[in-house]
Amino acid sequence: MTKKIAVLPGDGIGQEITEGTVDILHTFSSLFDRSMTFEYGLIGGHAIDETGDPLPEATVTLCQSSDAVLLGAVGGPKWDRNPSHLRPEKGLLGIRKALGLFANLRPVKAIPALLSSSTLKEEVVRDVDLLIVRELTGGLYFGEPSERRQVAGEDAVVDTLFYTRSEIERILRKGFELAQIRKKRVVSVDKANVLESSKLWREIAEEIAGDYPDVTLEHMLVDNAAMQLIRTPAQFDVVVTENLFGDILSDEASMLTGSLGMLPSASLSETGPGLFEPVHGSAPDIAGRNEANPMAMILSAAMMVRVSFGWEKEATLLEEAVFQTLKAGVCTKDIAAATNRAPVGTSDVIAEIK
Ligand code: NAI
Ligand code: MG
Repeated sequence: MTKKIAVLPGDGIGQEITEGTVDILHTFSSLFDRSMTFEYGLIGGHAIDETGDPLPEATVTLCQSSDAVLLGAVGGPKWDRNPSHLRPEKGLLGIRKALGLFANLRPVKAIPALLSSSTLKEEVVRDVDLLIVRELTGGLYFGEPSERRQVAGEDAVVDTLFYTRSEIERILRKGFELAQIRKKRVVSVDKANVLESSKLWREIAEEIAGDYPDVTLEHMLVDNAAMQLIRTPAQFDVVVTENLFGDILSDEASMLTGSLGMLPSASLSETGPGLFEPVHGSAPDIAGRNEANPMAMILSAAMMVRVSFGWEKEATLLEEAVFQTLKAGVCTKDIAAATNRAPVGTSDVIAEIK
């Protein structure tokens, strides 16, 4: 069955890394006899320039009618002074909302060729292979009220950490399901010694754990989890947590291994298309210079074919092509500098992976 992919290159290096990744997916498609079609949409700064809207309706329609969305990155200095409704990131937040993307997946895996460039000892990061599953549409970032007030004659502020049972249950279930196809261990991170929201979170985790008898469940307080991620990160398989904790822990975990240019991510909805994008931004400082590392984007595409299309074997082969290329010493400037290699261009890396 043909899979339809909505391609949203966005701004800055988003353009170059997306072009290269789609190029690789064409080769992938004929090599494995897996049929894919690609349709392009506008998002971010480019969309503002061309249509006056960071997320044109046509882009939303395109994404909703596709099997998956592949996104480069949005933003750049050109639009930094725009009023808030004309900011590139509005496009990103808008598409996440329109597609109901409630689960953000950030895998972090040790890359042998890059172990020596970690800020942690090699033996600490060597066996890291973890996945942070972050709730993306609830919690403190969206709870109401969220406002400034005057209380007893002085400024006061309130933010609200709000979750419903069904919101907590669906993200926890996603964590358990992902653990089933990984190492079968879930660490649920909360602050149940203090927060009411975390107490319900922990109760629900216990309730549904019985539906996944092959998976072990452990609870960890978020402050301890932050320490454990640096002390013995290899102990983790799936880490599932609410929005704010997940935002912080996923950025912490992403620095365990390798560089920003190597980190993929996925955001999933209940039944609709998922969105796959590199963790890094549009890197305007190097845009258009054939210097961007396309690997995070290609690894995001590998996640797409695994998670959205179920092509597990092919996804692994695509990932291996990336790691073999690194091992052969073919890499862009960001990695070359850290590993004492001579850098090559974005297009050379693409050609080697193909
Ligand atoms: P950034 O991730 O774009 O860049 C940070 C540093 O890492 C820069 O020096 C850049 O050259 C380098 N870098 C990033 N990706 C790279 C790659 N693939 N290969 C080689 N080097 C790479 O973050 P920054 O500078 O904070 O933001 C730049 C713009 O990107 C801003 O407009 C920001 O709003 C936007 N942004 C967009 C995101 C998205 O679309 N999801 C996420 C983060 C930032
Ligand atoms: Mg963050």
